[in-house]
Amino acid sequence: MKPENTLNVSRREFVKASAAAVAVGTLATPILAHAGGSDRIKVGLIGCGGRGTGAAVQALRADPGVVLWSMGDVFRDRLETCHANLRTAMAALDEEESEGSARWRDRIEVAEERRFLGFDAYKRVIDSGVDAVLLTSYPCFRPLEIAYAVERGKHAFAEKPVAVDGPGLRSVLASAEAARRQNLGLLVGFCWRYNAGMRACFEQVNGGALGRVTTVHTTYHTGTLPRRPRQEGWSDLEFQMRNWWHFTWISGDHIVEQAVHSVDRTAWAMGDLPPARVTCLGGRAARSGPEHGNVFDHFAAVYEYEDGRRAFHTCRQIDHCPGDNTDYVYGTEGSAIVNGWAPTYAVKGLDGAERWRFRGPIKDMYQVEHDELFASIRAGTPINDCARGANSTLMAIMARMAAYTGQTVSWEQALNSQESLMPTPLEWGDLPTPPVAVPGQTKLV
Ligand SMILES: NC(=O)c1ccc[n+]([C@@H]2O[C@H](COP(=O)([O-])OP(=O)(O)OC[C@H]3O[C@@H](n4cnc5c(N)ncnc54)[C@H](O)[C@@H]3O)[C@@H](O)[C@H]2O)c1
Repeated sequence: MKPENTLNVSRREFVKASAAAVAVGTLATPILAHAGGSDRIKVGLIGCGGRGTGAAVQALRADPGVVLWSMGDVFRDRLETCHANLRTAMAALDEEESEGSARWRDRIEVAEERRFLGFDAYKRVIDSGVDAVLLTSYPCFRPLEIAYAVERGKHAFAEKPVAVDGPGLRSVLASAEAARRQNLGLLVGFCWRYNAGMRACFEQVNGGALGRVTTVHTTYHTGTLPRRPRQEGWSDLEFQMRNWWHFTWISGDHIVEQAVHSVDRTAWAMGDLPPARVTCLGGRAARSGPEHGNVFDHFAAVYEYEDGRRAFHTCRQIDHCPGDNTDYVYGTEGSAIVNGWAPTYAVKGLDGAERWRFRGPIKDMYQVEHDELFASIRAGTPINDCARGANSTLMAIMARMAAYTGQTVSWEQALNSQESLMPTPLEWGDLPTPPVAVPGQTKLV
């Protein structure tokens, strides 16, 4: 029997699907109808960590009608800390903006019975009477969360990456299309797409300021992420979940989890055209100890496009090495240097002289993505950029597959891969750390 999501998808079909879905909805009727004429938008939070806490604040700030209605996490301590932090953040806003009145605090309406724990918490949050959900748990769970949110007709903000493997990616593509048909908002947290400087710069790039783009090199060179030593009472699964960045089945490895932002900008510079194939070198030079799981610490990917153009991406998570997070875009008439952290958004001619530089104000991009999502929901034209987010996620997944196996991997091979990384059944208890991949030996599945 064919497993679910074994549809055979080609690059051509994918381009058609993403072109249709990278857009705002087209119906003019606002989706949200509220009992008693209330204009409240009840929001549920799934994954109460750092990003989830931030996203909840941003959702609350995006629209005066938003209330936080329910929360879900696998760990009680994470949920409780997040709830307390949100109360503190809202109290600070009350102090700042309305002289101590409880305007902001009142918008956290997460009664005890709407705080859900466990692996099915996402379903209970989605079914708790919310209009929209914030999906900010670990990447491996995103396909399930997105699918259930769409099935239940909820708008969603979904953090990147949207999947860690081929089956997950195909599920997300199907959900993106189902959301489009139902006119649901489904915005993926590729936050740089919502940054004013970045937008202006890529408008230059895509608008021909460099002539025809010929080559792109993006970098994400940084240090290691947190490691949490094993505590008494933690099962293998809990240990891996607490150190989730370092386990490929949970995070997708750092090219998928973190550097995917740069991979996404590679796609942006190339007009969001899927590459034909990728060859990727990678390995694990400076990682040791159980907390570091089975991920690599460096990747160097060469993407090839059907028309012969190439794009390069390098990422590294090794301490005591210089950092870089820059996009270098080269065209027939000039180049662009893009660095969101500096920030630098500049275009140069072939002679190296600067021709354009962004100097405008830049609002917090995390806030902008929520402002735009909730405004679009209100207007009845909800943003759904999920197919585009899936494209960028798949570009990162295919590079990891190429690095792990040592093979050149085509877009179709990655998209139609049968390799599901999620352990089954997923139960608290023993779970050996999967082996570190060995190029030339690890098989492409
Ligand atoms: N866009 C950005 O700039 C950005 C920045 C940071 C993180 N992120 C993304 O946000 C997501 C979360 O990252 P984070 O830094 O907040 O991690 P985190 O560890 O701080 O938080 C994740 C939370 O999700 C919970 N969780 C895990 N599995 C769950 C499940 N099945 N159901 C419910 N809850 C679950 C965890 O217990 C934890 O509380 C990741 O996908 C990450 O890549 C994006």
